[in-house]
Amino acid sequence: MPANHHRLILLFLLTFETARRSASGDPNDEACLANLHQSLEDPANNLHNWTKPFFSNPCPGFDSYLHGVTCNNGRVYKLSLTNLSLRGSISPFLSNCTNLQSLDLSSNQISGEIPPAIQSLSNLAVLNLSSNRLSGEISPQLARCSFLNVIDLHGNGLSGVIPQQLGTLARLSAFDVSNNKLSGQIPANLGTRNGNSPRFNSSSFAGNGKLYGYPLGEMKSKGLSVMAIVGIGLGSGVASLVVSFTGVCIWLKVTEKKMEEEEGKISHSMPDY
Ligand SMILES: *[C@@H]1O[C@H](CO)[C@@H](O)[C@H](O)[C@H]1NC(C)=O
Ligand SMILES: *[C@@H]1O[C@H](CO)[C@@H](O)[C@H](O)[C@H]1NC(C)=O
Ligand SMILES: *[C@@H]1O[C@H](CO)[C@@H](O)[C@H](O)[C@H]1NC(C)=O
Ligand SMILES: *[C@@H]1O[C@H](CO)[C@@H](O)[C@H](O)[C@H]1NC(C)=O
Ligand SMILES: *[C@@H]1O[C@H](CO)[C@@H](O)[C@H](O)[C@H]1NC(C)=O
Repeated sequence: MPANHHRLILLFLLTFETARRSASGDPNDEACLANLHQSLEDPANNLHNWTKPFFSNPCPGFDSYLHGVTCNNGRVYKLSLTNLSLRGSISPFLSNCTNLQSLDLSSNQISGEIPPAIQSLSNLAVLNLSSNRLSGEISPQLARCSFLNVIDLHGNGLSGVIPQQLGTLARLSAFDVSNNKLSGQIPANLGTRNGNSPRFNSSSFAGNGKLYGYPLGEMKSKGLSVMAIVGIGLGSGVASLVVSFTGVCIWLKVTEKKMEEEEGKISHSMPDY
């Protein structure tokens, strides 16, 4: 029957389409992984199965064949490459993994900067780049990833200030920028008191020479701070007032005594009646 024929053709086309789809993955994920593989150096060959045929279809089913890659609905959603002796840098094409929710490249020797392009990863919830050799500044635009729960950047060589904008991330439950080269004042929203304890305690900020403000101490300055200068000014003013007042008092006392003596002499020289 012609109706059955049509059904068969439809079934065939559907099967063919499904097969075609699963044989080639998402082009964005492919660009992301291939470029990341290129920018990272892998001297211990831990990513030996990150090879071209797998990039072209990183998520054939629920799982990826690529070490450290986890998939969801045919897209890369988690990248976890920790403690693999990786060097090199993080490719800005990482932002092509548009469904990425968790990025953990901790405990490697990755250098260069955190690519600002990751600000476009709007689903990102976990960012763990701790214990690497990253340098440069933390981009204020990172706050565009509004689902961020975890920002762990401890143990790198990051410099500049902690962007105020990060304080607006409402879901942030873990924040660690300790042991970097950060400077300036800790944004109020990150250090602020929540009841009696800070939102993030001093452990999150320690080991940055020039970082100051609650929950760390106030600025330790080598020169004289404004308060110190005002203090010294006021102090010396008061001191000189005291000194001159005492001087005047002593002078008055001495003159008084002299006058008394004079008066005494006078009264002595005057005959008594
Ligand atoms: C990857 O990202 C770049 C820059 O954001 C974009 O131009 C490109 O179209 C994306 N996709 C692929 C497959 O390269
Ligand atoms: C890739 O390597 C990981 C870990 O080394 C392993 O679990 C996975 O099965 C490998 N995949 C393939 C396709 O060899
Ligand atoms: C990191 O890897 C090394 C060797 O591969 C291993 O000895 C060490 O225990 C690992 N460290 C952690 C924290 O997993
Ligand atoms: C980030 O990764 C390090 C090392 O893998 C781990 O010890 C640490 O707990 C992670 N940070 C968070 C906030 O989960
Ligand atoms: C900071 O808080 C963490 C738990 O969030 C705790 O393990 C750590 O001991 C605290 N550090 C200080 C210095 O209070």
